[in-house]
Order: sequence, then C-alpha cells, then structure tokens
Amino acid sequence: MTTIQQLLDGMRLPVIAAPMFLISDPKLALACCKAGIVGSFPSLNVRSTEKLEGWLVEMKNGRSEIEKETGRPPVPYAVNLVVHKSNPRLRADLAMCVKHKVPIIITSLGVVPELIEAVHGYGGIVLNDVAKGYHARKATQAGVDGLVAVCAGAGGHGGSLNPFAFVNEIRQSFDGPIFLAGCMNQGSDVAAALAMGADYAYMGTRFINTKESRAIAPYKQMILDSSSGEIITTPAVTGVNCNFMRKSLEENGYDVEKLLMPGKINYGEILTAKEDEAKGWKQVWSAGQGVSGIHDVPSVEELVTRLEQEYRRTVERIGRL
Ligand SMILES: Cc1cc2nc3c(=O)[nH]c(=O)nc-3n(C[C@H](O)[C@H](O)[C@H](O)COP(=O)(O)O)c2cc1C
Repeated sequence: MTTIQQLLDGMRLPVIAAPMFLISDPKLALACCKAGIVGSFPSLNVRSTEKLEGWLVEMKNGRSEIEKETGRPPVPYAVNLVVHKSNPRLRADLAMCVKHKVPIIITSLGVVPELIEAVHGYGGIVLNDVAKGYHARKATQAGVDGLVAVCAGAGGHGGSLNPFAFVNEIRQSFDGPIFLAGCMNQGSDVAAALAMGADYAYMGTRFINTKESRAIAPYKQMILDSSSGEIITTPAVTGVNCNFMRKSLEENGYDVEKLLMPGKINYGEILTAKEDEAKGWKQVWSAGQGVSGIHDVPSVEELVTRLEQEYRRTVERIGRL
C-alpha cells in the first residue's frame, strides 16, 4: 500500500492547501500542485456527481500538462468528502473518486470504514478531519492514514482546542502523520507545526487570498481589513459552530453583540435580515483567526515561494539556538 510519505515525496514544502466550500476548485488545486504543495477541493463545490467527474478529468489533464512543462510528476491532490449521513451524494461522489483514483481523500464530519477500504483498494490514502481526542481515536481505529487536527481559530468549522494540547493528545496514541489546521499563514508557522509534533501544515484562509482562488474581490478585501478579534464563532448561520468575519455577519443583518452574549441567543431576533438572503456561507464569509497575518493577494506560486523562504530561515534560526 502507498504510504503518505511515498505519495508526498517531492513536495516543496509540507503544506496542504485545505479544501474550502465555495472557494477551492481545479484552478486553485492545480496551481498548488504546480507550486509543489497539495491542492484540494470539496466534492460539494460542484452541483452534481457528473460535474465532479468533469473536475476530476480537468485535474488529470492539468496534471499531465504540468508534468510535460516541468519534466516531473506534480504533487498529488485531494478531494474532500463530507461523510455525514445528511450528504445524499456521498456514495456517488465516492464511486467517482474511486473511478478516477483520486490520490488523497479527506473525510469530514465522520468516519466510514467502507470508504477507507475502497480508497485503499486503488492505492489512495484517507485523511480524516478531527477536532476532539475521541474523534481522533475513532478515526485511527477505523484505519485512516492521517489525521487533520482542526484547532481553535481555524476557518470554517474550526475546532476549540489549543494546538499544543491537541497534537500532544493525538501523539499519545497515534504515530502516523498529523496535519495541523488553524491560523497558519507563514513559513515560520509551518516550521512551528513540525516542531510541535505535526508533520504537515493544513492551510485554508491564507489561500482564499490568492489570485487563483474563486473568492470575489470584496471577500478578499474583508480578509485584508479584518483582525483575529473580528472572527466570530457562531452556530447562527449554518446550525453548527463556524468562524465568520464580523463585518460579513453585520452586513447580513446579524446582531453580533447578541451573538456574543452568553445565554441570550434567540436566532429569531439575531437574524434581522431576510432569512434566505442572510443564511448560508454564500453571503456570510468564513475565515480563520489567521486573517490578522494576511496583507496581500499573491499568486499561489508567489505565496509558496515566500512560505518556503520563511520556512528555511526559521529552521536555520532554530538550528542555531
Ligand atoms: C471559507 C472556508 C470554507 C471551508 N470549507 C470546508 C469544507 O468544505 N470542508 C472541509 O473539510 N473544511 C472546510 N474548511 C476548513 C479548511 O479545510 C481548514 O480546516 C481550515 O481552513 C484551516 O484553518 P485556517 O483557515 O485558519 O487556515 C473551510 C474553511 C474556510 C475558511
């Protein structure tokens, strides 16, 4: 069976550009693979399994082009499958990923042993998103190849645990690869993730602000204008805790002061705008607390080059201490 180390051999930097709902697509994923890091997208970013096949074919063709151009196989890519029972497309999307031998499957909101078996069957690997110690234990018992440790402040459905606490807890019972997620923007953050016992950095919000991302210009501008204290964790938009930018919540009619008041939440009152306009990720923009460290919108290549330089400088500096 392929190991993650074999699969990811040749990466320029131990970084995955994380899958992001409404943001990531083949254009962003291919730019990442070309730049030497893992690119990814959620299967649900396309409206149907047939359209997902179109994206998988685009990835195959795009990767062949990169290989012709650079003379070496590009870094693999990942597809994120939401395995929660409420996802009616899981079975069909998984079958499509199996058909196209997607190298890495990232599962979120649960763990499904049959899926792991199916992906291992063609030599693929499975990473599972976890936010608590018991999720991690369940996933490793089911046979996943690596864990994405989603920590406090991460974009999307961020976790609540401190990264030191969580990585150390996972390490007590798992010696496989850990992908650390939450608030990383710089090469020094990647080095710090490795120093604390993780193996790869899993970066989302930083990649919203790249030239290749699908986010519209005002979304990217709001990231430039926001700071960590303006990331609000609330279940008010999607029904479960998720991190959104305060300005975006306000623009959509949410009374953020009320959202922050413990014990006084009344969603009927909070949501003053029309429900269909205000609800959902499309209007209310998610980002992680790392926004305070994002000051530009570079191309993926420029970003990865900078990350690599910062990473090397940090490793040298630590080596000298
Ligand atoms: C806008 C946005 C959408 C996201 N959508 C998904 C998703 O569809 N599936 C998923 O597994 N994670 C999703 N995430 C979480 C990321 O995959 C990743 O865990 C997170 O962005 C890492 O934290 P960071 O944003 O602080 O770097 C999303 C994050 C953001 C910011």
